[in-house]
Amino acid sequence: TETLSFKNAIDTDFSNQENVTAIEAAIKAVSDLNGTKYPYIINGEKIYTDNQIVSINPANPSEIIGSVSKVSQHEAERAIQSALSAFDTWSRTSVSERAEYLLKAARVLEEKRLELASVMILEAGKNYAEADAEVSEAIDFLNFYALNAIKLSKDDHKLIRIPSEDNNLEYIPLGVGFIVPPWNFPFAITIGLTVSALVTGNTVLLKPASVTPIIAYKFVEIMEEVGLPKGVLNFIPGDSSEIGDYITGHPQIRFISFTGSKEVGLHINALAAQTAKGQKWIKRVNAEMGGKDGIVVDETADLDYVAEEVVQAAFSFQGQKCSAGSRLIVVEDVYEQQLEKVVERTKELTIGLGSDNCDVGPVIDEKAYKSILNYIEIGRNEGTLVLGGNPVDCEGYFIEPTIIKDVTKESRIMKEEIFGPVLAVAKAKDWKEAIEIYNATEYGLTGSFFSSVEERVDVAAEEMHCGNLYINRRCTGALVGVHPFGGFNMSGTDSKSGSYDYLKLFSQPKLVTKKI
Ligand code: SER
Repeated sequence: TETLSFKNAIDTDFSNQENVTAIEAAIKAVSDLNGTKYPYIINGEKIYTDNQIVSINPANPSEIIGSVSKVSQHEAERAIQSALSAFDTWSRTSVSERAEYLLKAARVLEEKRLELASVMILEAGKNYAEADAEVSEAIDFLNFYALNAIKLSKDDHKLIRIPSEDNNLEYIPLGVGFIVPPWNFPFAITIGLTVSALVTGNTVLLKPASVTPIIAYKFVEIMEEVGLPKGVLNFIPGDSSEIGDYITGHPQIRFISFTGSKEVGLHINALAAQTAKGQKWIKRVNAEMGGKDGIVVDETADLDYVAEEVVQAAFSFQGQKCSAGSRLIVVEDVYEQQLEKVVERTKELTIGLGSDNCDVGPVIDEKAYKSILNYIEIGRNEGTLVLGGNPVDCEGYFIEPTIIKDVTKESRIMKEEIFGPVLAVAKAKDWKEAIEIYNATEYGLTGSFFSSVEERVDVAAEEMHCGNLYINRRCTGALVGVHPFGGFNMSGTDSKSGSYDYLKLFSQPKLVTKKI
């Protein structure tokens, strides 16, 4: 019954001028706090160090949003010990009590919705809708995991009953987890990874993404505000090289939850697979590692509608989503026609500040900026540039939405995740070949298939190999509980965030048999 009462949070309606005025005021209030120094938090204790990670506005790199205190290996060790000792009581705290902290936090998020969205607008370069939708997703993760943890604790797991015994299967916590979230959904995914572990009775170390630590701190502050006991959630900003490997390889870490690049995910997986001295378990790794998601269009699709969906999937949040539609595969009959519509629609996008609510904002940092521009150069040689291709002449990390056509499935820009506003377009002789091209990837996260022929839709549903396949709609914007999210192959460990089963990844099933 609990899951029945779950409802997705409702986004703010920015067509209402009052809401626009309110978010403008919130952005101003948040930017008045620019330059604030934040602590690290171990066992509830807030400590400020000189060694800081500085967070800047990618639209204007000289603007410092704030900075957080870095931990060294020594403090990382202290955080592990603090989480271990908190585990004793937290793992024995009732699931309803644990869930209550999440439900309370969800209410705080709703109250602070525009303030939190504003932090992401300034720190991550999101526009109003993207930042606001992220707060909604975060609220959803809190409510959904809270209610589903209660459901899990009451589940009878369809055990077969026999008269001579009373059998009970219970999912119990694992231990101390290491949470490594990404910068592209620095609030929602940080919260999702953290609270799924907490509500199931684990304690954690949270290492925020180094380019977006302030919004992660805001979350930790809210958990403190709702009274989460000390030591359950330790906030430890730091370098991957200094503390990341140390914690991942530590014998007392039980599991690692990661979302980010394939390279880092594989590195974590390899390191976690080694058994440290004194280690008593096989570590679990839950990794979500990106995609090279494709959109397949046949000649029976509604080309105007497809153009709108493609532009949103490819360029919203500058294409910096693991779910972004970065490959467009169109059958030759309508190839030029479809391409022209996509180009026309893309030309209408405004480029500029998230705080001015432009469609396309900055990419996250200088490293991403250079890497994306490099991929555009590669793409110019592999295909034909039809739109964009240039950086915007200003201080911020802005790149024009870019479309490169006539690439083959062997092209690097059809294979490698660019994580920026770059759409590669390939021609297929027919819808079957288009599906083959779609499947020619090592990733398998999201995909779209556009067609009005039912038999083709059925084939696509079976043949397109990905975790989240969308028929006749864009491949971004999964809703918690509605579209359990996560992919196959090099996209990760085949798990589904925003699903009931997800909580089992942070628990272990214990069967107790009582002889009657
Ligand atoms: N869940 C997001 C989406 O579906 C990506 O992380 O777009």
